Amino acid sequence: MDNILFCPSMMCADYGKLEQEIKQLDEAGVDIFHCDIMDGSFVPNITMGIMDIKTIRKNTNKLVDCHLMIENPANKVDWFIDAGADIIYIHPESERYVVKTLAHIKERNKYAGLAINPDTSIESIEEMLNLCDYVMIMTVNPGFAGQKFIEFTKKKISKLIHMKEEYGYKIIIDGACSPSVIKELSCMGCDGFVLGTSALFNKDKPYRQIILELRNL
Ligand code: DX5
Ligand code: ZN
Repeated sequence: MDNILFCPSMMCADYGKLEQEIKQLDEAGVDIFHCDIMDGSFVPNITMGIMDIKTIRKNTNKLVDCHLMIENPANKVDWFIDAGADIIYIHPESERYVVKTLAHIKERNKYAGLAINPDTSIESIEEMLNLCDYVMIMTVNPGFAGQKFIEFTKKKISKLIHMKEEYGYKIIIDGACSPSVIKELSCMGCDGFVLGTSALFNKDKPYRQIILELRNL
């Protein structure tokens, strides 16, 4: 599991000690800080903001991603890049000109990602895959941590795995990633996992120990 990307879902962190959380997660050996940005319209929740991205950026040299669960992200992408994000995920369900927005992220020399909801087909995004450095499969309905893994998404994941060679993207799974899900899907060929309450947060073990156990799955 050394080459698997572990991406702590920072919406699950303790905001009473955010800097300490970031440093402990960094020292625990996580790979990408995953920042869920929600606008209360595209998804029925509001979570992190620009100031949180700046705080994370200030406290780690690791990659920082922004998962934009917001309507019409095109004219907001630069806010998150300027705040320090290295990877920007947009949802094709929320954007009229997806290719244009992905191209803009790459013009800013950042990594471009597509995140797709459980009800969005792989076929509907195939034309955009050549612009993607990352493809994120939502295995829960976006918006909240602590939900149940949606089993039928595994069919989409295997389709995406078969196309990986052709396009060169990395596959990241977001939603209810428990140790057993991580083990099963990494064996299938997934590259990384968003770690929230199913694997990392609100456990009675230090992050370093949890990440070590996940690396040894
Ligand atoms: C879901 C969020 C993730 C994740 C949280 O919208 O993008 O942060 O589900 O992890 P879990 O599902 O393990 O609590
Ligand atoms: Zn997310």
